[in-house]
Amino acid sequence: MGVEIKESPVSDSDFEAMREFVFEYLAASVENESEGGRMRWYPWHSAEYRHNHILNVVDLAEAIAQKEGANEDVARVAALFHDIAKLETDQDVHAKRGAQITREYLETHTDYPASFVEQVCSAIESHNYAGDITDLPLETQALIEADLLDKIGANGITLMLLRMGYEARTHLDAADMVERVHRRGIDAAERIRTDTGESLAFQRIKRVRWFSEWLQEEVRNMEVSEDL
Ligand SMILES: [Fe+2]
Repeated sequence: MGVEIKESPVSDSDFEAMREFVFEYLAASVENESEGGRMRWYPWHSAEYRHNHILNVVDLAEAIAQKEGANEDVARVAALFHDIAKLETDQDVHAKRGAQITREYLETHTDYPASFVEQVCSAIESHNYAGDITDLPLETQALIEADLLDKIGANGITLMLLRMGYEARTHLDAADMVERVHRRGIDAAERIRTDTGESLAFQRIKRVRWFSEWLQEEVRNMEVSEDL
C-alpha cells in the first residue's frame, strides 16, 4: 500500500523571505508609478493595504485548504504571490503577470519540485477566473474563495467607510455603503463552493447584516435607499 509522504517543502524562513520580496515589489511598484497614473489616494492602491490583504488571503486560503484536504503549501504560497503585480499592471493582466514573477522567483530562489511551482503558478494565473470555480483545482478554489472573503464582512465595511472619506461623502451615506458590502457578500457566497468557504462567508454576511441593523437603529434618518 502506497503511503503518501507529505513533507512541507516550504520552511518558515522561506516563507518570510517570500513575504519580504512581495512587499518590496509592491512598494517599488508604487514608487515607480508616474504621478496621478492611478487613483493612488484610495487606500487599496497602497502597498501597505495590498500587503495586508495578501496576508489575510494567506490565512484564509490556508484554513480552507487545510479543512478541505487541499495542498496547504500550494495554497499559501499562491496566496502570498497572487496580487504581486496588482500595483504595476492593469487588473485584467495582473494574474498572468503575477504568475510570471512568481515562477521567476521560485525558479531562482528555491529548489521546490517543478510540479509544486507549476501548481502555484497555475493557481495565481487563474485566480481571476470568472466561471464556476469547481472547474479549477482545489488549491485554486481555496485562493479564489479567500480573495472573495477578504472583501466582505467587517473588513469590507471598514474599507467602504474609508472610501466614503476619500469621496467626501457624508455620514448619512453609510447605510447605503454598508448595504453594498452586504450585497457583495451575498454575491461572493454564490460563487463559493467549499463548505469551509461557505461557512466563513455566512459568518461575514451575518456580521454586515448586524452592523447595518445597528446603524439604522442608532442613527436617525439612516436608511438604505429604495433603489439599492
Ligand atoms: Fe487579491
